[in-house]
Amino acid sequence: MIEIEHLNKTFTARSGVHHALSDINLRIEDGDVFGIIGQSGAGKSTLVRCINMLEQPTSGTVRIDGADITGYRGRQLLGLRSRIGMIFQNFSLFQQRTVLNNVTFPLELSREGRGGKNATREGREARAKELLELVGLADHADRYPSELSGGQQQRVAIARALANEPSIMLCDEATSALDTRTTVSILNLLRDINKNLGVTMVLITHSLAVARMVCNRIAVIDEGRIVEEGSTEQVFSNPQSAVTRELLHFDSLTQVQADEERAGN
Ligand SMILES: Nc1ncnc2c1ncn2[C@@H]1O[C@H](COP(=O)(O)OP(=O)(O)OP(=O)(O)O)[C@@H](O)[C@H]1O
Ligand SMILES: [Mg+2]
Repeated sequence: MIEIEHLNKTFTARSGVHHALSDINLRIEDGDVFGIIGQSGAGKSTLVRCINMLEQPTSGTVRIDGADITGYRGRQLLGLRSRIGMIFQNFSLFQQRTVLNNVTFPLELSREGRGGKNATREGREARAKELLELVGLADHADRYPSELSGGQQQRVAIARALANEPSIMLCDEATSALDTRTTVSILNLLRDINKNLGVTMVLITHSLAVARMVCNRIAVIDEGRIVEEGSTEQVFSNPQSAVTRELLHFDSLTQVQADEERAGN
């Protein structure tokens, strides 16, 4: 379980102090596919980066399975991050490594601590192959990222994020660079991982349609504050905040546009 209490994050720049997150309170249960939705600049990335301490909160607590992680440093921090997978909009693969060696990378980092089957190159490669099988790319192991489509690159990033058997996966706009069909296939893969491996998903998106497809709960964030939270059904059927209604309206506009384009073809 992820419990966020009275979380604040301010950035101090030459132009002054910017409150990126103000008094955030959230509880994400094990097994949730939890959507964090909001406009650009709302604070979504900052919020998820506080869940793996890529960003140090200014105040407040983040507890994972009961442990306050805000004071974690050094080895504790590395241990935490190996239990939390993360994927991004731009995939962030290592271009100089093959697909297989992208997936073995986190196993190389963790081998000393874990020993066992990850201690040998053969063991790590066998594990990476299993993961590539899981994401449907077993036959692309020897390729380089530049030889793959965007959707395939995101699948490699997902395999890499799963390497250390995380209990939580953070997805920051993971489908924003992909077309509709590829978005659906990646969302289906994330849902399968949630169901079959029990990985809790925190999914950031600016699209309510994406959230609706996979999330069981949704929080809407605006100017660094949670303005709405509830089950996906609640948020869609009875939106409480003006921001949510605006996002819904925008989603329906793009849907109409997509329908018209299809009708025109
Ligand atoms: N390192 C930083 N230094 C200063 N300001 C920052 C920093 N990181 C983020 N911010 C500011 O904090 C606010 C929230 O940024 P954040 O990246 O969390 O937004 P977001 O909701 O993820 O937006 P987007 O949808 O465009 O990715 C923005 O106003 C941003 O400019
Ligand atoms: Mg962002």
